[in-house]
Amino acid sequence: MPQTHRIQTANVTKKRSSDWGNSIRGMFGQIAGRYDLMNTLMTFGQDRVWRQCVVREARLPRGGRLLDAGAGTGSIALEARAQNPTADITASDFTLAMMQVGRLRAGGNRIKWCAADALDLPFDANHFDAVTSGYLIRNVADSKRAFAEQYRVLKPGGRLVCLDTSPPGQGPLKPLILFFLKTVIPILGQIISGHRSAYTYLPESTEAFMTPGELAAGLTAAGFQHVRYRQFMLGTMAVHVGTKPER
Ligand SMILES: C[S@@+](CC[C@H](N)C(=O)[O-])C[C@H]1O[C@@H](n2cnc3c(N)ncnc32)[C@H](O)[C@@H]1O
Repeated sequence: MPQTHRIQTANVTKKRSSDWGNSIRGMFGQIAGRYDLMNTLMTFGQDRVWRQCVVREARLPRGGRLLDAGAGTGSIALEARAQNPTADITASDFTLAMMQVGRLRAGGNRIKWCAADALDLPFDANHFDAVTSGYLIRNVADSKRAFAEQYRVLKPGGRLVCLDTSPPGQGPLKPLILFFLKTVIPILGQIISGHRSAYTYLPESTEAFMTPGELAAGLTAAGFQHVRYRQFMLGTMAVHVGTKPER
């Protein structure tokens, strides 16, 4: 009988408990095998387009170094490799099962995989030209610390690009969006992955997450400049970009 991980979503923007990371790791460990298929189905294949946007926004120089933090199965890292064949791409995550799936994907052997906590990155300061993340920040115990770590490992002038979900805004489509998030996704998750709780956590954590404006303010508070964001899929997805100031 697989163990289920019921994750409390309250206070997403505040510091979470110390065993939060273990719960998150357990949850992604369970769904790793079906994670990519679920993403494709839930987003009608659009997640690929958003990841392409993330990599373009990273503006990696030729032969540059990119870190994809919380890389999971490596979708952003693989896209970065496809767009920048000469680049040095590192994918880091603390769930080994996710990276094991990623390593077997086409091109997975051309990426450096690194087991690492996004809150304590094992890289030198000023090392990467760009740091990307997809759906990481909503899942970490402490978003301020994650941003601080990304800032630390970026070179001056380097770019942070962050893709994540956003809570549905007020508008005529809100009931439809909530129905999709709270009813369709958990049922799909149950059918495809066999782990409904992970796909109940997704809408709950999305509703409790920072708005794009709040996330932008968090990046500015972390020291990033020129912070801006683009929204997708009826405002439920956002790509934030920020630059570490030149010295
Ligand atoms: C929703 S998945 C996203 C995977 C991938 N970035 C993508 O775009 O599909 C979130 C990933 O973040 C990882 N993660 C969450 N908190 C983490 C942390 N503190 N350190 C490292 N990885 C973390 C999880 O293990 C999981 O693989």
